[in-house]
Amino acid sequence: MKHLLKMLDLSKEEIIDILNLADQLKYENKNGIQHHLLKGKTLGMIFQKSSTRTRVSFETGMYQLGGQALFLSNRDLQIGRGEPVQDTARVLSRYIDGIMIRTFEQKEVEDLAKYGSIPVINGLTDFCHPCQVLADLMTIREFKGRFDGLKMCYIGDGNNMANSLIVGGLKVGMEVAIACPMDYQPDSQVLEFAKEYGDKFSMTDIPLKAAENADVLFTDVWTSMGEEAETEKRKIAFKGYQINDEIMAVAKPDAMVQHCLPAHREEEITAKVFEAHADEIFEEAENRLHAQKAVMVKVMGSEKE
Ligand code: CP
Ligand code: NVA
Repeated sequence: MKHLLKMLDLSKEEIIDILNLADQLKYENKNGIQHHLLKGKTLGMIFQKSSTRTRVSFETGMYQLGGQALFLSNRDLQIGRGEPVQDTARVLSRYIDGIMIRTFEQKEVEDLAKYGSIPVINGLTDFCHPCQVLADLMTIREFKGRFDGLKMCYIGDGNNMANSLIVGGLKVGMEVAIACPMDYQPDSQVLEFAKEYGDKFSMTDIPLKAAENADVLFTDVWTSMGEEAETEKRKIAFKGYQINDEIMAVAKPDAMVQHCLPAHREEEITAKVFEAHADEIFEEAENRLHAQKAVMVKVMGSEKE
């Protein structure tokens, strides 16, 4: 595995391999065992959007693996003043060992990988959020012990999270049911991919239908970063696309709830459901650290010290 650009690029085996290493690194971390698998290496982290979890977990993860991370804000880089990504990629490749990038267009991430000669990790684009979904899958397996036979439900915007959950969920063997308004469906490339999975994938605009017998329920903000001008319009379009008591009542009694965070209480999820499932949601946030350490080892290092 050279890069992590999107879930569509990964095979089921590669996903499971990352999750297994993430579990091992988490266990070792809890037991005070550190492996400096990325000793002497530097990760550049380019942020064109805000972040709490992604920034802190990558930076800490790199430190725990014996390397260092550079926070490169769009405001300070020449990329923010129009230097082409092709040039940035070729320059950074001569200084550092890997790039994590959070930006708008997926093409920018793909171009960094194409023109540079070092591994590129997608830390979120408008199209997808693969690091988050690897942590989500890790959390589901941690709580449920398996993927086979589980039903994942996503309620809300057909955004980067929906796109990545559909692909990740189907690839590891879950049934995936999506509920989103007709005008806010997931990306057509993802829907095309999902078609191959027949009745393991379903899409509706009725949240209660998608949530029926679900083992894991996901939602995400109604307005993603970069869409702030549409906030009021979206509040109207997404009314009813909320994880609440009614939704939980039709899911399995032991259903878990996941949210990539940040969450907007009383919009996509009620405060009551959020707090009732806080343990699962914050374990999911913690797992960003372990899953990304596994990804960095896979693309930038060797599993031996
Ligand atoms: N879930 C997530 O990516 O969080 P941040 O935006 O805080 O990085
Ligand atoms: N869909 C959200 C996810 C944030 C982690 C966004 O893109 O803003």
